Amino acid sequence: MTVTAQKPAPLPGTRPEGAQDEREAAARVRRMFGRIAPRYDFLNHFLSFSLDRLWRRRTARCFAHILRRPDARILDICCGTGDLAFALARARSAALSSSPNQLPILGSDFVEGMLSRAHQKARAGRFAVTFAAADALNLPFVDASFDLVTSAFGFRNLANYESGLREIARMLRPGGEVGILEFTEPGAGPFAGVFRFYFKNILPRVGGAISGDREAYAYLPGSVSKFPSPAALAALMQATGFADVRIITWNFGSVVLHSARRV
Ligand SMILES: C[S@@+](CC[C@H](N)C(=O)[O-])C[C@H]1O[C@@H](n2cnc3c(N)ncnc32)[C@H](O)[C@@H]1O
Repeated sequence: MTVTAQKPAPLPGTRPEGAQDEREAAARVRRMFGRIAPRYDFLNHFLSFSLDRLWRRRTARCFAHILRRPDARILDICCGTGDLAFALARARSAALSSSPNQLPILGSDFVEGMLSRAHQKARAGRFAVTFAAADALNLPFVDASFDLVTSAFGFRNLANYESGLREIARMLRPGGEVGILEFTEPGAGPFAGVFRFYFKNILPRVGGAISGDREAYAYLPGSVSKFPSPAALAALMQATGFADVRIITWNFGSVVLHSARRV
């Protein structure tokens, strides 16, 4: 679906319980992901029945036209333990088997515990991916240095969505593309209802019990319910320098990929 221009509603960013402002929100998000980093991969795959791997693979496939260019510069922000960066690298290696000179994909995150796990996985899997510690709202890279910027389940955690999009736009060269994979409130229908019940009632309990961090797994459905709707996020993207915004939904409308081109 291609989205036509709309006036965006004012959208703030995430506000974990108790955070009064952007600085506190970012600090809480950072501490929370630092706490759950050791169990993050296991819980991600367990709680999503490994569907998270499929969603990242599909996301990578949507950008095959960029991945097949060996000189394309690709940044995955809020990369966590690196799974989307690895999915992009796999898709790229498959497309470029004849060219060993592909540029490595760069993953960035502001939680050291996530990045150290990402480093280990990159070494073990011999992925053409490097990682850097960086705040997605203040990226330490020069303007227009990337052809593709992606994020999987990370963008929702930013303390200011508009600033996040402006920072992504700053990173992209004109014509470069963005892909934001996120959870969203599922649509109508019985399967969506079952998923909604699971996501709001079972997942936080199971995640909280296994990780020992109830706050982190209560935050997940709470932050999704407050995240802009796909149409509202699309409107914000259009207002922050992007065109050709496309929305693809999976899993009964509960997982959404926004892609767009920087004007
Ligand atoms: C739910 S995890 C997603 C990780 C990974 N992209 C994935 O697909 O599994 C969210 C990640 O976003 C990171 N994050 C949140 N806010 C950030 C910010 N302002 N700057 C950098 N990383 C941030 C967290 O540290 C965490 O690793």
